[in-house]
Amino acid sequence: MSLTDLGAGVVKLLPPEAAHTATIKALKLGLGVPLNAPPANPVLEVVLPKSGLKLPSPVGLAAGFDKNCDVPNAMAKFGFGFVECGTVTPKPQPGNPKPRLFRLSEDKAVINRMGFNNFGLDYFVRRLKMYQGAVPVGANVGANKESTDRIADYVTGLEAVAPHADYVTINISSPNTPGLRGLQDRASLEALLTACGAADRAGKPVFLKVAPDLDDQAIADIVGVVRGPGAWLSGLIVSNTTLARPDSLRSADKGKMGGLSGAPLFGPSTEVLAAFARALKGEFDLIGAGGIASAADAYAKIRAGANAVQLYSAMVYEGPGLAEAINRGLPALLKADGFKTLADAVGADL
Ligand SMILES: Cc1cc2nc3c(=O)[nH]c(=O)nc-3n(C[C@H](O)[C@H](O)[C@H](O)COP(=O)(O)O)c2cc1C
Repeated sequence: MSLTDLGAGVVKLLPPEAAHTATIKALKLGLGVPLNAPPANPVLEVVLPKSGLKLPSPVGLAAGFDKNCDVPNAMAKFGFGFVECGTVTPKPQPGNPKPRLFRLSEDKAVINRMGFNNFGLDYFVRRLKMYQGAVPVGANVGANKESTDRIADYVTGLEAVAPHADYVTINISSPNTPGLRGLQDRASLEALLTACGAADRAGKPVFLKVAPDLDDQAIADIVGVVRGPGAWLSGLIVSNTTLARPDSLRSADKGKMGGLSGAPLFGPSTEVLAAFARALKGEFDLIGAGGIASAADAYAKIRAGANAVQLYSAMVYEGPGLAEAINRGLPALLKADGFKTLADAVGADL
């Protein structure tokens, strides 16, 4: 057992949030971080059609792991094709009382109700300016819990991070800030996307991150707004965590309040992704997230319409080597189905 494995073993014995904090501290010091990113495989390279984002691999790190943009340089070396930091809010805020992060080990899942704990925009932008990694870095912005004008918070965040990020994500789908998901409703979304569309985005691609808990009408409403006042957007990230609790859950903590992610989210989030892909017909880039734990999972999202994918929860169980394991597995899956490039497989199941 290497020292890194030993460290990872000790970290797993800690309560989940303490383990996460220890991991970020270790990564910040460079502990266990590969010296260089693994060599890129040209088969996996993808250019997202609308945003023009060029990714060495379609497998990205989802938001929430590195909320304060402390370790994007380190994460880029683990083989992720892009790294999304945040969610950052304009002002620092502590988030919800602890405990607020739960491992559902038997279900390969996580429940969190962090509530946008973060150091605020000033700290985030200072860190973001220091990024030197070889892969695109995204900045995910949100609104403060106590804000009296949430739309203004998004505009403030967007304008502050855009000059220094490769792309920006507008996150209106966290279930842990009361009322935030209401911004997905038609009239609110129109107002939000009109305001953000008029903001100074420094020419950077912007994505909208949505929840998996959307019925057909809610999906149709979002599609309508995205095609209208949101036509300037590059695409959607589908999806955030779910408030649903599938009957299959077995872990003791399954009843905890918060957003569920990991394996049980794979099916529902892939269905919502496919619904958006069918409706949007390639007019917008789609990034699929939710329960990806293997190359087969990533490939299924791509076949369901994702131009690229993101993961977080499976890394809690598999470690940061998961990105590179997926990179190694994807080419054989493409080849077996006769696809020459990754782009050829996008939406093959629709
Ligand atoms: C502990 C935790 C914190 C998260 N924080 C954020 C966040 O701050 N912003 C955000 O957009 N998504 C956040 N997410 C959601 C993830 O980015 C992702 O959309 C979701 O977990 C589904 O992917 P997964 O099943 O691979 O984890 C968080 C997820 C977890 C598990």
